[in-house]
Amino acid sequence: MATSRLFFALCPTAAVRDAIYKASRDAVSAVDGKPVPAANFHMTLVFLGAVSTDSLGLVKSIAASMQSGRCRIELDRYGHWEQPRVLWCGASRVLPAAAMLAANLRERLAGAGFRPDPHPFVPHVTLARKVHRPGELGAFGPVRWEADSFALMSSSTGAHGSEYTPIATYALGASGNSIMGNKGH
Ligand code: 2AM
Repeated sequence: MATSRLFFALCPTAAVRDAIYKASRDAVSAVDGKPVPAANFHMTLVFLGAVSTDSLGLVKSIAASMQSGRCRIELDRYGHWEQPRVLWCGASRVLPAAAMLAANLRERLAGAGFRPDPHPFVPHVTLARKVHRPGELGAFGPVRWEADSFALMSSSTGAHGSEYTPIATYALGASGNSIMGNKGH
């Protein structure tokens, strides 16, 4: 059975990506571990894992049915998880729109029989992996960003590590979302 490894994410614009890269450059070079390329920066909303390609249509229709406004994000802190040893930047304040979108997506996907990762949504952008010694983590940025879309992404392992490919993008706005781009898998 053919499967894709899927997740939903907010993907920063090029300007926001650059701002995150610049704000984190010194901290990332000061820790051990492997920096995440700026092109891969994203904020995971829901991780789905392996999904049969036959079910892609259902996943997309659930995403398209989400009614959510734009997600205001303020990245203002660093964090480190001992497991899976990642250094990240994230939000110290609750992000109501992003948290609601993540919760609604997760609930609808679980209700349709998928098995989204059950960990609670923690708004973060992973900056480096395999970080054993994070050292002193001060404040980050801040970097502000208003996400006007979210994406269904597929994750694969290429010659240079993880590769993330947007499969479909959904606009966020006052009147809910609509499909912006769809690779037609
Ligand atoms: P991250 O969000 O902390 O960077 C694709 O694998 C993306 O989904 C990764 O960026 C990863 O971590 C995130 N993710 C969330 N839960 C995951 C899980 N249970 N397994 C693998 N990746 C997960």
